[in-house]
This record gives sequence, C-alpha cells and structure tokens, in this order.
Amino acid sequence: MMTDLYWYFYSDTNAQAGELEELLIKKNYKLKSFQLLEDLFHQLECSPYAILFLKANTSYNVYDLCQEISMKFPSIYPIILVPENMENTKKAMRVGASNLLTYSADTDEINDVILQAQTYMRQRASKGDGAPQLQKQNSRVIAVCGSKGGVGKTSLAVNLANAFIKGGKSVVILDANFQFGDVAMYLDVKPNRTIYEWVKEAVERGRYGIESYVSHHSSGIAILPPPPRPEFFEIMTEEHVALAVAELRKSYDVILIDTPASLSEIHLKSLDLADDLLLVTTSDLPVLRNTKLYVDMLESLHFTDKVHVLLNRDSKHRAIEVKRLEGILQNPVFATIPDVGKQMTTAINEGHPFVLKNGRHSFSKSMLHLSHLILPLTEEAEKKTKRFALSR
Ligand SMILES: Nc1ncnc2c1ncn2[C@@H]1O[C@H](COP(=O)(O)OP(=O)(O)O)[C@@H](O)[C@H]1O
Ligand SMILES: [Mg+2]
Repeated sequence: MMTDLYWYFYSDTNAQAGELEELLIKKNYKLKSFQLLEDLFHQLECSPYAILFLKANTSYNVYDLCQEISMKFPSIYPIILVPENMENTKKAMRVGASNLLTYSADTDEINDVILQAQTYMRQRASKGDGAPQLQKQNSRVIAVCGSKGGVGKTSLAVNLANAFIKGGKSVVILDANFQFGDVAMYLDVKPNRTIYEWVKEAVERGRYGIESYVSHHSSGIAILPPPPRPEFFEIMTEEHVALAVAELRKSYDVILIDTPASLSEIHLKSLDLADDLLLVTTSDLPVLRNTKLYVDMLESLHFTDKVHVLLNRDSKHRAIEVKRLEGILQNPVFATIPDVGKQMTTAINEGHPFVLKNGRHSFSKSMLHLSHLILPLTEEAEKKTKRFALSR
C-alpha cells in the first residue's frame, strides 16, 4: 500500500495555490487549502504527518509562523513560500522549514520541491517513524450505537471484544461515552490514565503515542477510558477523537467504539469514523420507536450503508415479530442476540465479559457468530479455532 500523503496550503490572505495545486493534481494528489490558522491547526492535529506550504506575510511573519508550527507539530514537513525580497535560507532552516520556494519559482523548481517532500515522507514512512503507513492493514473501526440507554450497547461491546480476541484479533474499546462511560467498570479495570491525559500531556505537546494511556483487562481487551470527570469532557474535540482512532488503528485489528445514546457533534464524529455501525435495539415498542428515529438520522447523514441492526435481548416473548420489526426499521436484522436475564448483571458485577465464563451459552455463540460476520476468519485462523475447540 502506498502511503497516502497529505498536502496542505495555508495563506493568510485568500491567495490561491495556483500552479502548485495544478502540479499536485497532475500527480493525483489533493491539496487542501486553509485561510484560518485555527482550521489549519485542527487539521494538523488530525494528520500530523503532512506536507504544509506556508504563505504568510500580512497577518503573520511566515518565518515566525513556521517556527510555531514546527515546534507544535514536529512531524509536519513545512515548506515556506516567500517573496524574492524575503528569501533567507538560513533563517528558514532555523525555524524548522524543510524547504523554501519563492513566489517566482518556475514549474521545474516547484516540481523539485514536491518530489523532495514526497521522497522524504515515503522514506520516513518506510522506516516506521510513526507515519500513517504504520496503520495496521485492515484494522476495523466498529461503533456500537443505539438510541436509548439500557439497550445493551456497552454489554455487547465488551462481549464482542472478547469474541474478536478469541478469533485472534487485537482489540481496543474506545469509550466514547465521554461523560459517563462505564466500559472500564464493566471490566473491573481501574484506569490510571485516560484519553483526557493523552490530550493534555501528549497531543497538546505534539506527541501522539497513545499506548501508555490504554488500560488492559486480563482477557486481553484494551480500553481507552473517557476523562476521569464528566466536566473534563469540555476539552475534547472531534479532532481528538479522529486522532485517537488513527493512533489506535496503528496497533489494533479492531477498534470498538462504545457510544452514548445522546448525540452531540463529537459523538457523530465517532459514528463518522467507524467502518461499521452496530445499531442496538430491543423489540420493546418505546425502544423501537427511538431506534426508528435513529435510523432516519443515520440515513440523513448518509451512513445507511454501514448500519447493521442488532436485535438484543431477544426471546420467544418478544414484543413483535422480527419481520414486522424489520419493516418498521426498513432495515434487515443483522443478528439477534438472546436475553440472558440476570446472568448479564452478575457478569457485570463480577467485572468480566459474560462470554468468558459461559462459552457454550447461545449468547456467546451469537457473539462469536457476529464477530465472524463482521470480520470473516482467514482459513488459517479458522483451523486454529477448530483445533482449539477440539482440544477442549
Ligand atoms: N442480552 C442481554 N441479556 C440480558 N441482559 C442484558 C443483555 N444486554 C444488556 N443487558 C442488561 O441491560 C442493562 C443495560 O445494558 P448496557 O450494556 O449498560 O446498555 P447501554 O450501554 O445501551 O446503556 C444491563 O443491566 C445489562 O445487564
Ligand atoms: Mg453504555
């Protein structure tokens, strides 16, 4: 897989990138332009491995701006664009610029600078300097969502996580219930650090490594916990979530995002980032009504293609038949998950996934089945699981 290179252009007037952009397009690259520094900084937080053309001299001195950016985002490859009378290579180097172009640069010169940036970024990626290429191939981001508290989102997230682990995947749960998250509690894990400390101690200083902020359950499930206090939620932005997911993608096969029922911008972002949305519902009419509203909302956001409806707490006493439920939701039921009654609460109180001690229960089988529906086993993994089953 070729590294995806990100190209950005910043100008403090509304100057266009002109020929530079044309040349990039010819090479099949996209150039994203920014006029507001705030927007640029947000973007750099999300993709710290980018090439950035800086053109400024009305509101900012381009050299000062470059220095600020290279200190804040050390992985950025900044290229200063200056008028001829301001060209100063030494100064550019001192402020951390990777290259310099004058306004009068001709096609060959611009192409040269593009080529150098491209070569440098690719080499760095192949050396594994934390560049986007390090993403685990085929890592999968799955958000568990639903319109009401209590439908089983968190229960399914922790149990599904365990099912993926049985299939040989590495799994992290990002608790995107940033105010009242309970994943760590469901797994009896007491986190030392959380996404909050990661934002304060790392991201804001231009470092992105997230592993030391992750907690672990003995079954192998990793958790990125929410801020330790509900009011700390204030500092979290959509970009932080995007960046956290990008970081987690580097080390985990599966990133499960547990979401709350409420939907602010930051939660919509979690849904946006996911490859799959597992929409949890029960067949109780009040829940169903809200699920229908939720489905409509997902449709208006153009997320319909990645929605999979999970009918949780199913039993022969279900309020309405599956066919009718599918009709109401205008969506097929992707999987039905049995009601295990009080046993689920017992598992939560004991602080482990239900499936761990109840491997043969139909609920556990439904979790395994669901995990295989989402990520089909490779042949090799399949043999291993079979051998494992036989040896027990
Ligand atoms: N399949 C199930 N069988 C029995 N109880 C369940 C099941 N799924 C969830 N529950 C129970 O429902 C309650 C709410 O579950 P939870 O996962 O916290 O929902 P949410 O995250 O959607 O708010 C918990 O007490 C849990 O024990
Ligand atoms: Mg929950």
